[in-house]
Amino acid sequence: MMNRTRRLRNSASLRRLVRETTLSVNDFVYPLFIEEGQDIVQPVTSMPGVHRYSVDRLPEIMDRVVAARVPAVLLFGIPAHKDDTGSETWNEAGIIQQAIRFIKKNYPQVTVITDVCFCEYTSHGHCGVLVDEYVDNDATLGNIQKQVLSHAAAGADMVAPSGMMDGTVAAIREALDANGYANLPVMAYSVKYASSFYGPFREAADSAPSFGDRKTYQMDPANSREGLLEAEYDDLEGADILMVKPAITYLDVVKSIKDIFNKPIAAYNVSGEYAMIKAAAANGWIDGEKVMMELLLSIKRAGADIIITYFALEAAEILTKTQYE
Ligand code: PBG
Repeated sequence: MMNRTRRLRNSASLRRLVRETTLSVNDFVYPLFIEEGQDIVQPVTSMPGVHRYSVDRLPEIMDRVVAARVPAVLLFGIPAHKDDTGSETWNEAGIIQQAIRFIKKNYPQVTVITDVCFCEYTSHGHCGVLVDEYVDNDATLGNIQKQVLSHAAAGADMVAPSGMMDGTVAAIREALDANGYANLPVMAYSVKYASSFYGPFREAADSAPSFGDRKTYQMDPANSREGLLEAEYDDLEGADILMVKPAITYLDVVKSIKDIFNKPIAAYNVSGEYAMIKAAAANGWIDGEKVMMELLLSIKRAGADIIITYFALEAAEILTKTQYE
């Protein structure tokens, strides 16, 4: 036999030599839930290992982020007061603004990315301004501009709009550039599906819609060419990083976006993907650590340069131990 692919699998060192994809701590972004109030470290039941923190208790988790050398966190706020427009999102004393200032002051080496959306802040749980139970795209854009300017003023290093309103990146770029933030990058949730895998997040962030669903703004899971269109528009509007979300069930989309666009590609390994693995591992049905690492590797192999994941700290700790295996 001339060709035996097994020859290069003979030993661990040889396998290391021909390995095509390597995961690194540098790939990870760790999402953080920050709740208004004091002395809160509240476990999220459906996401074992994940908690909501009040700002004063953030050091517990931020110390771990720094020790694990994870380069960035993605912040989600849970405000004490909601209203029909989500006006707390642009309150300069709001929960996210406080959290940004706290982290930038105490952990300046960590990149702070903010999720830009309204669903945690609106009384109806939808991602924008409602007109007759329909999320009004253009009325929402003005509020998005207020929100990003407020995050920028508090010191955010990057903003990540996740509401799937058309024209979002252009509106954000216009507001930032006109206010002295031309150098603040945008990571766009470009290809975001109306996915059932967000279930546990909605418990964590208290953001489930009070009626209906998000199918008039988030994408149909059946479509991939439409995802290319979404990415193309965000690219043309000046997005710096293009994201696909969720990750595992959309690796085909990650791959096609990666093949076409020459900007960094992010993939969001979402709450439901995390919860399934944690639940199976807790039952002893899978080896949780090994499955986690294989899954993260698969996301990278498909083309993600950046992986947003609740596994970031655990995976970083394992990578440090096993990098020569
Ligand atoms: C919207 C937002 C959601 C997630 C991130 N940003 C929820 C949604 O669109 O309903 C989901 C993340 C996850 O499931 O881990 N602010």
